[in-house]
Amino acid sequence: KEKPIIFSGIQPTGQPHLGNYLGAISNWVNLQEQAHLNQETLLFSIVDLHAITMPQDPKKLREERRNMAITLLACGIDPKKVILFEQSKVPGHSELAWILNCLTPVGWLARMTQWKSKLGVTKGAQSLEDVSATQGLQLGLFAYPVLMAADILLYRATKIPVGEDQIQHLELARDIGTTFNKTVKERYFPLPRPIITETKRVMSLRDPTTKMSKSDPSDQTRINLIDSPSLIASKIKRAVTDTTLGISYNRTERPAVANLVDIYAAMKQVSIEEVVEEHRDSSMAVFKEALTSVIVEKLGPIQEEMRRLDGEKGYVERVLEEGAERAGEIARPNLLQAQKLMGL
Ligand code: ADP
Ligand code: NA
Repeated sequence: KEKPIIFSGIQPTGQPHLGNYLGAISNWVNLQEQAHLNQETLLFSIVDLHAITMPQDPKKLREERRNMAITLLACGIDPKKVILFEQSKVPGHSELAWILNCLTPVGWLARMTQWKSKLGVTKGAQSLEDVSATQGLQLGLFAYPVLMAADILLYRATKIPVGEDQIQHLELARDIGTTFNKTVKERYFPLPRPIITETKRVMSLRDPTTKMSKSDPSDQTRINLIDSPSLIASKIKRAVTDTTLGISYNRTERPAVANLVDIYAAMKQVSIEEVVEEHRDSSMAVFKEALTSVIVEKLGPIQEEMRRLDGEKGYVERVLEEGAERAGEIARPNLLQAQKLMGL
């Protein structure tokens, strides 16, 4: 029996922050170690074709793509254990996406929530034509989930690590795979299943009801992985808390403090109980200083590695090139077979 193939993608947009690190990148590193033990093939893609579905600056995209690769490598992604590559460098993603575009009903895409949230469209308020005219909905953004299905099916991947927000897309990928199989009367594409990883959402430092995000206009709401110790200290110092004395953990009554405790526990890799035990009687100022140290200590070596990789001329480029080659070796025969089944 064939070993399962695992695929996951990350967009190269904006500066990676603690939410990306704790919610995605550190999971990838764990997954990498598991997959390596089980001799499973793990593909991690920097999905630049997805990044151009929104207005963007080509020069910035080039920089951010390289920066994302450096970040992943510095955080522990090991190109000996995983295939790390840029999506656009394996043409099969686009080629398979076209075939799948020809099999995907527009209605399925209209139901998706991502293009709506990216354009700030409220549910069902407007027709597609109105949204296109007033908000500039482009075909690429609308068809984004089809490209996502192609990303997975191209490798005949069966295990897909996803956050809860991506479940809808994975279901669509299964539906599209099923449609392809029915169309060609052969069960060519295996249907992908989610690996759901239990991760806490890291919340904004200024508003514990919204998640820490690159798209938040204020940089004060997040800790970027490249922030200097003094910048981290000032952001943590100014993070919202409450007036209750001491440190306790209650997500509903003390959401801002709970978020800081979550970050502390995750970055130090200890339990929440341990953090609360240690800081039960700490003042907020003392707790924030300790939290700053924990973050700075964890990010220090990562930042050092990022600088090293950035300075090593041609290294990142070589890793990505080699990754694209290895990904292409899996993709090419699969694409050929899919084309053949379609009569191409
Ligand atoms: P952002 O919202 O900052 O643009 P993305 O949407 O690009 O982040 O997400 C990249 C990855 O990081 C996804 O796997 C997502 O689930 C994860 N992620 C993003 N923000 C957070 C957060 N605040 N807490 C936990 N995980 C997050
Ligand atoms: Na986002």
